[in-house]
Amino acid sequence: MYDYIGKEKLEELVDTFYSYVSKHERLSPIFPGDWEETARKQKLFLTQFLGGPQYYSMERGHPRMRARHLPFPITIELAHDWLDCMGKAMDDVDLDEEIKEPLLQHLRNVTYHMVNQE
Ligand code: HEM
Repeated sequence: MYDYIGKEKLEELVDTFYSYVSKHERLSPIFPGDWEETARKQKLFLTQFLGGPQYYSMERGHPRMRARHLPFPITIELAHDWLDCMGKAMDDVDLDEEIKEPLLQHLRNVTYHMVNQE
């Protein structure tokens, strides 16, 4: 998927995604507030997650995504909110229709694993 989407489009997607998250009334307050740094890490991670270079692990070690999310209270509602923001960002950056649904499905598979609160 990384080769199909390309570095530039993926970076645009992540920046657009966090522009939604940073304005979201439920999501925004649980983030540290350094949106550039959060987006930077997410670009590294998604590059790797979608089959591109393993830059995330080179810099930050094993992804351990669920463990890294434990300090943040994540409910199922926030997981839905996260996916909504991602879907809107995909529309905004005009991601190809052929890749949109498979990418969203790939993300859905992991998003609910981050839920750590009732
Ligand atoms: C970090 C929230 C789902 C990937 C974070 C942080 C928060 C957060 C608050 C800390 C930001 C920071 O350290 O700058 C959420 C919420 C989610 C969610 C509410 C909804 C379920 C996901 C998913 C992925 C993901 C599905 C991957 C596909 C990351 C990455 C980081 C991160 C790569 C940076 C980890 C690091 O410090 O190396 N997330 N997240 N998150 N999140 Fe999520």
